[in-house]
Formats: sequence, structure tokens, C-alpha cells
Amino acid sequence: MSAMIPDMENYFRGFIPPRDALLLALEEEAARESIPIVGPVVGELLYILARAAGARNILELGTASGYSAIYLARALPPGGKVISLELSDAMASRARANFLKAGLEKLVEVREGQALNLMAAMTATFDLIFLDIDKESYAPALSHCRRLLKVGGLLIADNVGFAGADAFNREICSQKSWRAVHLLSFLPQHSPEKDGLTLAVRVD
Ligand SMILES: C[S@@+](CC[C@H](N)C(=O)[O-])C[C@H]1O[C@@H](n2cnc3c(N)ncnc32)[C@H](O)[C@@H]1O
Repeated sequence: MSAMIPDMENYFRGFIPPRDALLLALEEEAARESIPIVGPVVGELLYILARAAGARNILELGTASGYSAIYLARALPPGGKVISLELSDAMASRARANFLKAGLEKLVEVREGQALNLMAAMTATFDLIFLDIDKESYAPALSHCRRLLKVGGLLIADNVGFAGADAFNREICSQKSWRAVHLLSFLPQHSPEKDGLTLAVRVD
């Protein structure tokens, strides 16, 4: 049997995907101001999953400075759209400015407010939902995600290694509406670098 690569964490740091000047600037800003963005590995994962799923209508919970939404918006097919929900007015304004810089202002709509309330008032159907708000809201958001996601749609949840995500982690694996997997991952430049991600598809 082949041996494992020694010092795998260091080794895989060598494969962080490249990104443009705007994303690099947002990473530096996030490090300076402790804004918990997904970083380049999960960002690239979001792009890959959205692109592979052909996701046209994407809902993001938790915009912050707009870093992850830029990856999602860049994966959209023509005519696609990202709606991103953000509690902080200040963050929402910063994100809008960043979408303008990225030339994505027509593709991303930021809605300000408590995500659970905003979702409760929504009726649109989405192909992909990305969950990245306070972890205690993940479990209460699950029924909204089921209602707003098409059958066959993809739910991605970040930071499920946090204690606050425990109820969500258990519920999504016990409900027949979902097929879900939790991935404990090493994620260079993610906050934190060792964390869980959930990938789930709505099956019912
Ligand atoms: C982890 S950050 C999002 C990072 C962003 N997805 C990225 O990677 O670029 C979480 C953001 O969600 C917002 N937030 C937290 N709880 C929220 C809630 N219940 N409803 C709406 N926004 C929330 C915070 O203000 C913060 O900006």
C-alpha cells in the first residue's frame, strides 16, 4: 500500500487556488478586521459546486463583505442571480460596494435583516442555498431551506464543526427530506482551518 504524504496540512497549503486582486484584498481586509469569510478553498468549492449544479437561483445566508457571494455569482449561468441575506447594514453596504468593484452588481442582491425572518417571507425557489450565519440559526433555518430549495437542490453549510451547529447536524441527518454528509476538513485560510462542511441534497 502506498504511504501517506507526510505533513499533509503543509503539503495541501501548496494547492490554495489562485484568485484575483479584489478577492485577495478582501482576504487581507478580513484578516485585519476579523471578518470570518470562507477563504479561497471553500470559495473555490462554492464555485465548483454551483457551476457543476448549473445553479441559476442561489440563496446565501450571511453576506459579510461579499467574498463568498462573488464566487457564487461568478459561477452563475446567463440570467442567473444570487440573493444574499445580511443582518448588518454596514456589512451589506460594504458588500454592495464590492459587487460593484467586481462588476457583479446586477447579479447579486443583498437583503438586509434577520435571515430567518427574511426567509419566512420568501416564496421563490432556489437551486442552491449556502448557509453561513450564526450557527444557532442553522437548525431553525432548515425548514425554510427545505421549502425554498427545489427537489434535487443543493444545500451547503459552512462551520458545522461549531457547537452551535450540533442541532442542525443531527436534524439534517435524521430527516427523510435530505441526503446529507458532514465533511470534517482541513481548509487553509478558512476561519477556522479545521472545520466541518455539510453537503446535502433535498430528496423529498
Ligand atoms: C461568517 S459571516 C459570512 C461570511 C461570508 N459568507 C463570506 O464567506 O464571505 C456571517 C455573516 O452573517 C451575518 N449574520 C449572522 N447571523 C445572521 C442572521 N441570523 N441573519 C442574517 N445575517 C446574519 C453576520 O453579520 C456576518 O456578516
